[in-house]
Amino acid sequence: MLGNSMLEMDGFHVTIRTSASSLSGTYGSVWISLVGTLCESPPVRVEQHLLPDSACTVVIKPKEEVGVVVLLRLRLEAQPGFPDLDWHCQDVQVRRSAEDPEMEVFPCHKWIRTADGYVELRNEKACLKKAETLAILTDHRERDLQHKQQLIRWGTFVEGGPHCVDMSSVTSLGLNLTYIRKRPVNNVHYIKGFIERRTSWGSLQELETFFLFNGRENTVAGYVQAHWHEDAFFGYQCLNGCNPLYIRKIHNLPPNLSITSEMVRPFLPEDSSLEQEMERGHVYLLDYEVLDQLPANIVNGKQTYLSAPLCLLHYNRHGELKPIAIQLQQAPGPQNPVFLPSDAAPDWLLAKMWVRNSDFLVHQLLSHFLRTHLLGEVCCTATLRQLPEIHPLHQLLMPHIRSTLQINIQARATLLASKGVFDKSIACGLEAIPLLIVRGTQRLRYSSMCVPDDIRERGLDALPICYYAQDALRVWDALHRFVAGWIRLYYCNDEDVQHDCELQNWIREIFTEGFLGLTHIGVPQSFQTASEMCKFVTMMIFSCSALHAAVNFSQLDFNLWIPNTPAAMSRPPSQTKNSVSEEELFSFLPEVNSSCHVLSVLALLSQPAIDFVPLCQYNEWYFCSGATVKLVEEVQRELKMIAEDIANRNSQLALPYPYLSPDYIENSVTI
Ligand SMILES: [Fe+2]
Repeated sequence: MLGNSMLEMDGFHVTIRTSASSLSGTYGSVWISLVGTLCESPPVRVEQHLLPDSACTVVIKPKEEVGVVVLLRLRLEAQPGFPDLDWHCQDVQVRRSAEDPEMEVFPCHKWIRTADGYVELRNEKACLKKAETLAILTDHRERDLQHKQQLIRWGTFVEGGPHCVDMSSVTSLGLNLTYIRKRPVNNVHYIKGFIERRTSWGSLQELETFFLFNGRENTVAGYVQAHWHEDAFFGYQCLNGCNPLYIRKIHNLPPNLSITSEMVRPFLPEDSSLEQEMERGHVYLLDYEVLDQLPANIVNGKQTYLSAPLCLLHYNRHGELKPIAIQLQQAPGPQNPVFLPSDAAPDWLLAKMWVRNSDFLVHQLLSHFLRTHLLGEVCCTATLRQLPEIHPLHQLLMPHIRSTLQINIQARATLLASKGVFDKSIACGLEAIPLLIVRGTQRLRYSSMCVPDDIRERGLDALPICYYAQDALRVWDALHRFVAGWIRLYYCNDEDVQHDCELQNWIREIFTEGFLGLTHIGVPQSFQTASEMCKFVTMMIFSCSALHAAVNFSQLDFNLWIPNTPAAMSRPPSQTKNSVSEEELFSFLPEVNSSCHVLSVLALLSQPAIDFVPLCQYNEWYFCSGATVKLVEEVQRELKMIAEDIANRNSQLALPYPYLSPDYIENSVTI
């Protein structure tokens, strides 16, 4: 610890380092004072220029003894006549004298603005509040939070949905919460000419020609086009498509699914009944009741239509999962027939298209937006407001959640806004979105967010063809070990967890603001044990990285062949059988311009950035030293092994499942 107790000292030698990036410098000048255990030195102006990748040294000779220096106070001042640029400070190094071999580093690694006033840096490594030995440092933690709570406030996107940050422009976030990624060029050359065509697709041939130009470089989409009408591929997509979160094993039929054992007997093994197959754990269900009676959007001035299907699937002896019954609406009745694989081919294919349409909507708004984007934003907002920067959990989480505020502000201002893609082209428009998000929030369950519980509860562990489940479990386990190791560095026992009031305020705020205090969801309101904390933190990191990769980067692959996943249906669900011909099927699809509008957005969203940061690759200074280095190396080694195993497995598959390979998983939600 540095002090000026020697009266003959020649003054503190303070070196201020500007970060290396070419935009880090500023024309402004910085004032600095040393905050010691006895007093604070008067601010001194640093005369040198704050150029990128430079170091400026100033000698500070306090008249009074400051004691041990525990904080540095910096203030950036604009120069008259020069632009007021933000400054990216790397750190400040302090020596007691020019010759002193001991140097203390006060890390900064963030942008400082003239509007920030005084910014305080401390030299300690991450620690819990109870480990603070000086009142001045406890005060510093509290000031940090008070400042953040003034800047970052809770707002509402949808009444009855998770709260979000109360900001509508990215610039108000400031540079520390924004990011720029290099995006690959989005080739819309063969799509954009369709934007004025407000008519239906004329024929299968027309769709095939469109796909020939737009899907030729996408091998997964090519596979989808070749197999989309097959029952086994329909089942495959429920497990390994862009929405693997909905299918679940059942042991009893839902009371509103109007089928008898006799109806589905032809699709089961000869020696078995539906009841026996359910008992053996071979029967699965997709239930889109969350869409029931939602108002369907008007697209191109025309009504679109929604269904809320129930789809029963059977896992057969050939290792395939196949749909065996589809009821398009929730309430059973004579005008709501149950479609079967033995029905006329157009009837059965159309019933499956309705299921795929429903799946598109819940995938986009619930599995993707609610479960990853909004959840990440809840976590980021609560972390900024309740955990000071010196808190170890703040440091662990921020690389995984920092980007959620920017991307969600942008999504709310464009995709989800008036004239955005939902408003203009998707069956779930501006009227239905809030209703669906409220219903989705009510139906959230903590167990479904935690991979081991979720996979077990939905019976996916019993399906060798569910690559999502296998890969998700392995990535979860690696993250869980990493988080557990991190927690052990700072919390000796469960009492430490219980007595960390900052941590308890954090989880309480997530419970009340993110999950609206809804106890039935099952999210913790407080942490009693390190193990509870570890599970919740793993869930947050998994949701913002791996889960987002699974539901986001797969979108174009499974949606590019439009009949496989229509974003809107142009005609109402069939109320009788044998009412549609093969030629008529395509009149149910969304019209040409709206199909292409959706695809152009999905193409943009589905491409990872050129400079994306893979899972558990960290640039933050605090991951580069001390005990955390070993933890990071361990998790990176484990993730590399998982990636190798997935690559080996995928090399044997006709259709690889790459989305949860750790080298494809982005560290946070940035698109
Ligand atoms: Fe996304």
